[in-house]
Amino acid sequence: MIKKFRIGNPIETDSVVTKIDIENGKIPYFETVSAEKKLTLKMEKSDRVYGLGETVRGINKRGYIFTSNCSDDPNHTEDKRSLYAAQNFFVFWGKVKGFGMYVDTPGHVSFDIGYTDKDIFSIIFEDFDADIYVVDGDSIKDIVKQFRGIIGKSYVPPRWAFGFGQSRWSYMNEQEVREVVDNYDKQDIPIDSVYLDIDYMERYKDFTIDDERFPDFTAFVKEMSDKGIHLVPIIDAGVKIEDGYDVYEEGVKNDYFCKKENGENLVAAVWPGKVHFPDFLKDDTRRWFGEKYKVLLDYGIDGFWNDMNEPAIFYTEDHLKEVFKQLKDYEGKNLDIESFFNMQGLVGGLANNEEDYRRFYHEYKGKKYRHDKVHNIFGYNMTRAAGEAFERLSPDKRILMFSRSSYIGMHRYGGVWCGDNKSWWSHLLLNIQQMPALNMCGFLYSGADVGGFGADVTEDLLMRWIEFGIFTPLFRDHSAKGTRRQELYRFVDKESFKNIVRLRYSLIPYLYSEFMKAVNNDGMLFTPLSFEYPDDEMAYEVEDQLLVGESIMIAPIYKQNASGRYVYLPEEMKLCRFRSYEDYDVEIIEKGHHYIKADLNEVLVFIRKGHALPLAAPVERTEKIDYNGLKYECFECDKDDYEMYVDDGISR
Ligand code: GLC
Repeated sequence: MIKKFRIGNPIETDSVVTKIDIENGKIPYFETVSAEKKLTLKMEKSDRVYGLGETVRGINKRGYIFTSNCSDDPNHTEDKRSLYAAQNFFVFWGKVKGFGMYVDTPGHVSFDIGYTDKDIFSIIFEDFDADIYVVDGDSIKDIVKQFRGIIGKSYVPPRWAFGFGQSRWSYMNEQEVREVVDNYDKQDIPIDSVYLDIDYMERYKDFTIDDERFPDFTAFVKEMSDKGIHLVPIIDAGVKIEDGYDVYEEGVKNDYFCKKENGENLVAAVWPGKVHFPDFLKDDTRRWFGEKYKVLLDYGIDGFWNDMNEPAIFYTEDHLKEVFKQLKDYEGKNLDIESFFNMQGLVGGLANNEEDYRRFYHEYKGKKYRHDKVHNIFGYNMTRAAGEAFERLSPDKRILMFSRSSYIGMHRYGGVWCGDNKSWWSHLLLNIQQMPALNMCGFLYSGADVGGFGADVTEDLLMRWIEFGIFTPLFRDHSAKGTRRQELYRFVDKESFKNIVRLRYSLIPYLYSEFMKAVNNDGMLFTPLSFEYPDDEMAYEVEDQLLVGESIMIAPIYKQNASGRYVYLPEEMKLCRFRSYEDYDVEIIEKGHHYIKADLNEVLVFIRKGHALPLAAPVERTEKIDYNGLKYECFECDKDDYEMYVDDGISR
């Protein structure tokens, strides 16, 4: 059962699609402390908190403070309160009480879950305006399902988007892209897509192609498509200010951009230098910007990733002027501890400055709002612009779309990737821990940059990460310019990379089927053990194993030099230790704690009793998967016990 309560006068976010009447009574479970703009709850020792989507730290969120304030921050260290997303749904579960709550407000809100006081959970609002949905149910899974039922069905990508994708910020021209594909093909490592980062554009202008780097883009898209490869270009939120550039000129002419208080268009800067931000909250702007994707669709492009849409700001023109002025005070001075750091702060504080988010305005549902009040729905509405346009522009064919910034509601229009992580072992664990929380909030098509975006990867980290990545719907190796090259064929043990990625292709019938069941039943693809085995207290402690769909549990290895790991089995399971589709050993493992060996090239998959895992013969492209030739690994069941979801993978 779901009840809706209202605090103050909240701004509508369109995240909930079911109409629910507002209750008059007090918000249950929490005490409302209006003077301090917060809700508080005393936690029992056994209480746990799950959800909040893409954040740092573990699966159980207790013990830290998380702030919903979509942020462009590439350092996802455990002290960070905000990453790129604002996904304000959580489930509170303990011996005495259990419920779910969705805090629907587009402004800043913090979830202090035992940080200030280890036994107090406070939800602290910047503005005390929100719609609060309280979900009561029999189990965590039931609560999640009910919640998902009111926010609308999750986005479904084309099936080819379950194939492996190679990306890198710095593929400079078509020849480099061609070489990537050729190298994968030469090594027999399957691949379905190559991502085009900002360098495909002409001077970082959205919806343009640099014709020196890609002299005949139509022919190139076709050449790739003939090989079964999808090119996936990036689209950024900022529109370059440049005379003669149609997107800029149309935006100015029709008042599509965000404005400052004085009515002038805000001038900020991102990759292209000075830009305007489309006011994605405005219906007209959304419609116009969405139509722009047609430029690329017409080239034969069928997938996109939306970036820098928190929005990321290098600086605003006004702020930069102020800083230059202030810097004059420091000239010629003997800079001491205080003045040096102050000066450094002035320059360092230019990017993504909170002040700048208060310098511009939106027109939303007929009213004017200062940006910070609606900050968390900016990226959502950029992706919504695209998603709504694709329904018009491509009514018969699904288009791949995922975004960096997100808010609940955006899950209907696209997936997410987890932004600029690093080639750190701890970020492999973070990736594992983020997946179920994302799923709870409706983001099923998701994944992180496999191998890590920033910093230099090592071969063993990449291999272990690939071994987890083969289970995430979005399975993309992406890395930053200037870091060590991260394409799989560049490493020594090409054979193992090949075998593991091929295993992914064997798993696609299962993963796609389980993904679609999760979409259709408002379920999760990645489930923590504590959700599935609520009576098993040991399962509560497990933060590094996940159930993937109905049949399997995975226990990824995320520590360097490990020759195996401790695994907790909440029930007897059948272990498949995969080196490849063809080569694996099986073993029945009883309930309890075990140390399970796994060499660097081995993937641990545990099949649950009474369940089956279908496996396809590996192929080099998703399209070539033969659904007639599936084999089944079963544990005390037969293949007919598995209900397979199959469709054409492309129509809506
Ligand atoms: C941002 C994105 C990253 C991309 C880079 C250049 O940092 O998060 O994925 O490669 O911009 O476009």
